[in-house]
Amino acid sequence: MPEAQPLLRVENLVTRFKSVERSKWISAVDDVSITLAPGEMVGLVGESGCGKSTLGRTIVGLERPQSGRILLDGVDLSTLRGAELRRRRRAIQYVFQDPYASLNDRQTIGEAIAEALIIMGISDPAEQRRRIRTLLDQVGLPDALAERYPRELSGGQRQRVAIARSLAVEPRVLICDEPVSALDLSIRAQVMNLFLRLHKDLGVACLFIAHDLALVRQATSRTYVMYLGKIIEEATSAELYARPSHPYSKALLGSIPSADPRIEVTREPPEIFGDIPSPTNPPSGCRFRTRCPHAAEVCASAVPPLVALSPSHQAGCVLAEKFYAESAAQPLPHPAPAPRDIQTMHAR
Ligand SMILES: Nc1ncnc2c1ncn2[C@@H]1O[C@H](COP(=O)(O)OP(=O)(O)O)[C@@H](O)[C@H]1O
Ligand SMILES: [Mg+2]
Repeated sequence: MPEAQPLLRVENLVTRFKSVERSKWISAVDDVSITLAPGEMVGLVGESGCGKSTLGRTIVGLERPQSGRILLDGVDLSTLRGAELRRRRRAIQYVFQDPYASLNDRQTIGEAIAEALIIMGISDPAEQRRRIRTLLDQVGLPDALAERYPRELSGGQRQRVAIARSLAVEPRVLICDEPVSALDLSIRAQVMNLFLRLHKDLGVACLFIAHDLALVRQATSRTYVMYLGKIIEEATSAELYARPSHPYSKALLGSIPSADPRIEVTREPPEIFGDIPSPTNPPSGCRFRTRCPHAAEVCASAVPPLVALSPSHQAGCVLAEKFYAESAAQPLPHPAPAPRDIQTMHAR
């Protein structure tokens, strides 16, 4: 569980967009509260379109929230202006999903990183070269790459450069928005291991957004599950994957291929019916009720609050306690062993 004073605290955040017809609002992020402790690696999962990127983009200031607060070290960022705001914001960096879109093709890799260093007040060319070498080394790239252009690099190398550039401003939080999902399957684990190593070596806290649930399960200590703009369940990753207690999480997590063959035979993933409802016209009450096999009349009347199931687990469903108790009756699956490549890279 997060410490008393989290590094990052998001309170009741609401971010809306005007729909294409301009007549309706899309509540992409709807009353979301999350926390991140110093050095913590936290997952954020949910189907495409549920608002994960908008939440991340709002946290780093790429979208403007309608309401709610974002606090870093207990300081509400909306109360800051000018240089102080820029200085605080630098502590939170965003790693984009698409490594091809995040670099300027006319800049060498060295120039791209130097730009970030200049923001930090490092303008001496010799000092810049020294830092660039260190940063490239930290992300596992050879020094010689500084002279190259992005078009000469692979997707995995570009993502490493993007990470090096984020690190240049010495962030304390990285918002990693599906940072490996655009990469070839073969290099995903390598880049994932880079995140794990940076997290371990530099103590950078990460909000790790992903739809690859197997990756989140291995890499994070805690996970939030998001559905249609809302957090519907939160728990330590071990507990969430062993005892999902919201019908949506049960369906979502039930669909991951398990590393433990015993789990696959014992857990039947419930089906999620139909498509995500339109975010311009979400269902009343529980957002998931139109697709939920357990939906009852009560579910339409009010948004179910998150109820505490254990000190490190909460879920927003009127039946959460029942599902939680039922899962306790089953033997807990053993924690899945990390795949070998992740383990090997991790030790690097
Ligand atoms: N700039 C925007 N303008 C209008 N709608 C947007 C914008 N960005 C995102 N949305 C909408 O907000 C919802 C959440 O999107 P997003 O945060 O990208 O979800 P995710 O990252 O979980 O796939 C979607 O319905 C999406 O269409
Ligand atoms: Mg997204």
